[in-house]
Amino acid sequence: MSSPIGVFDSGYGGLTILRQMRQLLPQYDYLYLGDNARAPYGSHSFEVIYKYTLQAVEALFARGCKLVILACNTASAKALRTIQERDLPGIDPNRRVLGVIRPTVEAIGPLTKTRHVGLLATAGTVNSGSYTLEVHKLWPDITVTGQACPMWVPLVENYEFDSPGADYFVKKRIEGILRVDPKIDTLILGCTHYPLLMNKIVKYTPPGVRIVPQGEYVAESLKKYLAKHTAMEAQLSKQGRVHYLTTESAEKFRESAALFMHEMVDVETISL
Ligand code: DGL
Repeated sequence: MSSPIGVFDSGYGGLTILRQMRQLLPQYDYLYLGDNARAPYGSHSFEVIYKYTLQAVEALFARGCKLVILACNTASAKALRTIQERDLPGIDPNRRVLGVIRPTVEAIGPLTKTRHVGLLATAGTVNSGSYTLEVHKLWPDITVTGQACPMWVPLVENYEFDSPGADYFVKKRIEGILRVDPKIDTLILGCTHYPLLMNKIVKYTPPGVRIVPQGEYVAESLKKYLAKHTAMEAQLSKQGRVHYLTTESAEKFRESAALFMHEMVDVETISL
């Protein structure tokens, strides 16, 4: 059985992370799973996000993945630790599940000069406090201000990311966070959907404030992880193939992937 790297997101957002991973590490096989039928996850409770995420991880394991990346901040914030500590030892202690928060947090330390950082993310991610906790473990001198952007994921999932309607919601949240802390010089896009709103985000972010999407850092961190964990690396299949799974209609996913990734994808519908 081949062993692709599993990449999970509630919907299309994880494609922004997958793109960077494929750019940096094109030799590996990848299996992407979007739980599009149940997205967005952002406003669900801890229990629901944990249950959905565990089902997704098990589905990827059942298809041969030894390593799964939760390319979703909401799932990383709410489910990752429980899955790592409580579920993995029972399922298979040799498999691994990694998230996107830690690599992002590691990257921001050297980027901020004012030591004031803003986090734009789903309500689930902001309210979990995971970013603040992780930032303070590594960079105790950094102040983190969170701003939930509840309309941003629906804008992306409904292909409205380039529409005039998106301007209103993007402007509102960026102005909002900078009003709360005008010293912010670094804005983390703490949701994998947000790079798809980049044109609008750039438009409303004042010069001098750096926008930090995560893909590049997550890909770099995966590369380092694989260099260090050679037993895991040796098990991964390396034919440069990518296959996609969705819980929604395959046709819909194919159309969206073409829109988001400018690529025709090989996709199959599954139920979790
Ligand atoms: N891409 C997910 C994230 O990074 C979006 C979550 C959602 O479905 O609301 O948080």
